Amino acid sequence: MKDQKIVVTGGLGFIGSNLVEELIKDNEVLVIDDLSSGKLENIKHLNKQGLNLIKGSVTELDLKNIFEDVDYVFHEAALISVPESIWDPLTYNEANVNGTLKVLIAAKDTSVKKVAFASSAAVYGDNESLPLREDAPLQPLSPYAVNKATGEMYCQVFTENYGLSTVSLRYFNVFGPRQDPNSAYAAVIPNFINAILRGEKPVIYGDGEQSRDFIPVKQVVKANIQACQSNENGVFNIALGKNTTINQLWDMIKEFMKIDVEPVYMEPRPGDVRHSLADVSRAKSFGFKPKPDFKDELGETVEWFTSKFKQS
Ligand SMILES: NC(=O)c1ccc[n+]([C@@H]2O[C@H](COP(=O)([O-])OP(=O)(O)OC[C@H]3O[C@@H](n4cnc5c(N)ncnc54)[C@H](O)[C@@H]3O)[C@@H](O)[C@H]2O)c1
Repeated sequence: MKDQKIVVTGGLGFIGSNLVEELIKDNEVLVIDDLSSGKLENIKHLNKQGLNLIKGSVTELDLKNIFEDVDYVFHEAALISVPESIWDPLTYNEANVNGTLKVLIAAKDTSVKKVAFASSAAVYGDNESLPLREDAPLQPLSPYAVNKATGEMYCQVFTENYGLSTVSLRYFNVFGPRQDPNSAYAAVIPNFINAILRGEKPVIYGDGEQSRDFIPVKQVVKANIQACQSNENGVFNIALGKNTTINQLWDMIKEFMKIDVEPVYMEPRPGDVRHSLADVSRAKSFGFKPKPDFKDELGETVEWFTSKFKQS
């Protein structure tokens, strides 16, 4: 993607800032973020030329005016805590459903060529027919998952009724630099690294044989760009199509950090899905070919958290 005018909502967050880092190399990027969980420091290392920030909520800003000459919108902004969505579904609906609807309305009324919507594997709930295909029945188990399923449906309806190109990308467990260790997703990786750095024993809930389809954030960024550049519309799993157990993950991190500590095993968390694995064949249609081995990216993530820890 080159010489385009791009909006990244949620661009101060973990995935959004990684997208901005890549897109700013060859494009003009406008970040929209209300700083509810995002941080200015996530983009402060980037070249300011061509990079602009609007502080505010997608639910309140005049998006039609902002999108006037924009080519692509990567809609990453969302409230992302599953438990919080259960305590406060109305706030989540406002940010995640109305926010997405407002992005889509503004996009259809302007020059926007395509919207990439950050959806989530949460829409599958605890469906056990693995690997999960996009046509599996939706089984949202939380207001957050309902928000994402609704966002996908709005995207589809906007494509059908108004001809707005959209893709909904169902991210599985994303990891990488700038991930918030307190985030509701895949926090296991930053948590393991930070525990070692602090000289503490990491906690594993259950027997550690539960598995997840982890994907490095760089591959998520690539998938977003490929999806936007293609003629495809619709829903796509974004994962590696390979599952890793928590025990295997712990062994890899121990090896990188050259330590030999035994984790503390605690009671499994209620509601935790035992296994998660995506079928990633549909995303091949826009050229997404995930590299199944994520050792290098895990090593880079360890280095990033280690240097951040040393600076603090
Ligand atoms: N991290 C994962 O593994 C994962 C998995 C599945 C889906 N997702 C989705 O990917 C997207 C990015 O997630 P993340 O992990 O980077 O989370 P994050 O919390 O780091 O980023 C979300 C960003 O959106 C901003 N934001 C929230 N509400 C906003 C609003 N109303 N207006 C403007 N900005 C707002 C926050 O300040 C933050 O910068 C989210 O939509 C999330 O639901 C993430």
